[in-house]
Formats: sequence, structure tokens, C-alpha cells
Amino acid sequence: MSDLRQRSNPGAAAPSPKTSESLGKQIKRNLTCLQRGPILLTPSELSLYNGTSPTLPIYISINHTIYDVSASPYMYGPGGGYSFFAGRDATRAFVTGCFQDDLTSDLTGVEEMFMPIEDDDESEAEKRLSKAEKKLRREREMREARRKVDEHVKHWVDFYEKSDKYFAAGKVVRAHGEEKGGAGKKRELCEAAKKGRPKRSKLREEKEKSE
Ligand code: HEM
Repeated sequence: MSDLRQRSNPGAAAPSPKTSESLGKQIKRNLTCLQRGPILLTPSELSLYNGTSPTLPIYISINHTIYDVSASPYMYGPGGGYSFFAGRDATRAFVTGCFQDDLTSDLTGVEEMFMPIEDDDESEAEKRLSKAEKKLRREREMREARRKVDEHVKHWVDFYEKSDKYFAAGKVVRAHGEEKGGAGKKRELCEAAKKGRPKRSKLREEKEKSE
């Protein structure tokens, strides 16, 4: 996780100390959950599991998989530094770190955050490239950007999968008649992700230095 924590937009305030559930209680609830099998929740059902109800577990979701994070109410419960993740699938925010604008599972267009800003058109190096070469470069960079998105998502999926505090509880399903997330429309990149985009001029300088 630490590599991703280097990005801007830290996880907000320090967690408020609250008494964690006892280990015995946790084990009992986890076993009950496992016995019942994976649960299927629509986004609006999932929103009830945001830590505000003392009788419900706290769930977060990433990549449509629901994880029980009740073991860390000080982090995900009300007042916790990462409470915004509770009761929803906010995969996009896990990638961008935009914890206000990107609390959605919609990843459309998010790869743009890894695509270079073309600020170097006047340099000799850029002028030497043909249109076709630039197109090929763009295609290669787009593939690489998509791979990075997958890598970020995988990082957090692995974090929850391998955790000894949390466990997968089920899946988020679409409500009857609900459109697929994003419906193909490209979502705007949040400001912090826009600011973090690499610049073509910087990439060229780095390449020239290493040559
Ligand atoms: C893409 C950006 C980021 C994401 C998605 C993210 C996500 C998370 C998540 C999900 C946790 C809870 C882990 C758990 O359940 O144990 C966490 C913890 C934490 N994060 Fe981040 N984070 C990001 C960036 C940052 C940054 C930039 C900082 C600091 C400068 C930061 C500082 C922390 C700290 C200190 C904790 C531990 C809190 C505690 O144990 O009480 N994070 N982060």
C-alpha cells in the first residue's frame, strides 16, 4: 500500500479511536457469513452497510467484490479516515485517490491519468516523428496506461484478499433495470489525477538524460 500512499490526496483525517469488535465476535460473525455463502447486494442495498447501523457489518467494495471491513471501524466507520469507502463500490477512487469526486465503480477514461500531456510539440524530437509514429506511440502508451489501472485495482484487491482482518463477503449486482456503470460515456478525470499526469517534455528530458 505504501507505494500508492505516495500520491497526493491522503486519506483524510486521523482515524477516531473507537473500540474494535472483540476477536471472538469477529470470528463468530465471519463464520456465520461463510456458512451463509456469498451475499449479493445492489448498490442501494450496499449503502446500508456503511457503518452507521450497529447491527450491520461494514462493507466496502472494489471491482464488484464486497469485503467485510468491520474489523476496522475506526478506519471505515463514521468519523474514520476512510469512511467514504464504506457502503459503496468506489473502485475509481482507489485508483485516482480522488476521495470526493470518484466514489464510483465507473472506470471509464481513468487510464488517461497515466497518459502523457502533449506539451512538447515544438521540440525537435517531436517534429522528427511522423503522424504514424505518434499514433503507434499513443496506442502503446494507452495499453500501458490500461495495464497500470489494472495494476492499481489489483493492488487493492490483493490487499483485501490477503488481509487477515478482512474477508470477501459477496458481490455487488445491478438492480433490476439498472444501466451498466458509465454506459460507455467517458467520465472526466478528477483534478488531482489531471495534475498528476506525466508531461511529454519531462519524459523526453528523462529519456535524453538516460541516453
Ligand atoms: C490512491 C491513493 C490512496 C488510496 C486508495 C488509499 C487507501 C487507503 C486505505 C483503503 C486504507 C485503509 C487500509 C486498511 O484497511 O488497513 C489506507 C490507510 C492509510 N493511508 Fe491511504 N490511500 C491513499 C493515499 C494515501 C496517502 C497519499 C497517504 C499519506 C500521505 C495515506 C495515508 C494512509 C495512512 C496513514 C493509513 C493508515 C491509517 C491507519 O492505520 O489508521 N494514504 N489508505
